[in-house]
Amino acid sequence: MLELPRKIICEASHVAVLTGAGISAESGIPTFRGGGGLWRQYRVEEIATPEAFRRDPRLVWEWYESRRESIARAQPNAGHRALAELARRTKVTLITQNIDGLHARAGSPEVIEFHGNIWRLRCTQCCDARLDERVPLPELPPACSCGAWLRPDIVLFGETIPPDASYAAFGAARSCDAFLVVGTSAVVYPAAALPGAAMERGTPVIEVNLEPTDLSDRTLFLQGQASKLLPELLC
Ligand code: OAD
Repeated sequence: MLELPRKIICEASHVAVLTGAGISAESGIPTFRGGGGLWRQYRVEEIATPEAFRRDPRLVWEWYESRRESIARAQPNAGHRALAELARRTKVTLITQNIDGLHARAGSPEVIEFHGNIWRLRCTQCCDARLDERVPLPELPPACSCGAWLRPDIVLFGETIPPDASYAAFGAARSCDAFLVVGTSAVVYPAAALPGAAMERGTPVIEVNLEPTDLSDRTLFLQGQASKLLPELLC
């Protein structure tokens, strides 16, 4: 089952990778959809939109603070590490929808954080951004030196992807020789359009997921846990 996808990746001189919440699930970070998913327990509109932040920044921050607490306890798993290892052998463009920073902690040298990073705070007025890994933060909502609220530097629903991240990710999807999709339901756009951008060029797309997605009838689909399959696939 792994022979063909392994050969494709082995022979590729540039592999683009898109990861989603599934790769961090085995590090103990809940996914968004499916049983136990965060969007089963919370309403997106109350927590993850710019309107929600304007309405009640403290409520939004309390939710992200609890996510910061659980992410701070998490460790990268064998799936994250296998991708970091692949980048030592070949050119890899790693695009993640995850905001947890676990790819960088596993040693991946460059990560396109398509939806931002929960450890970075950005001013709602002067747009100054800084890393702040304190858990808990001393005050909620945190304030910038200019006096305005700081927000998590992540892409909320209805916001656009930072242009640099979008340009680099779509450029990689169109120029790689193999595209690997890991642990994403592939329903949130524009990230979900990246595998299609590779397919349009005839580039093989390999998918690792616990269950098939809307992409799977056009991918080399590998069913199983990312932490088990990636070390075997990328060895
Ligand atoms: P989802 O929760 O939508 O999907 C997670 C996917 O991972 C599902 O297809 C699962 O089957 C799969 N999965 C779960 N555990 C796995 C494992 N151990 N190994 C392999 N696959 C596994 O998460 P995303 O697709 O990442 O947006 O969600 C996309 C975006 O929606 C997120 O970035 C977030 C969310 O709202 C923002 O925060 C902007």
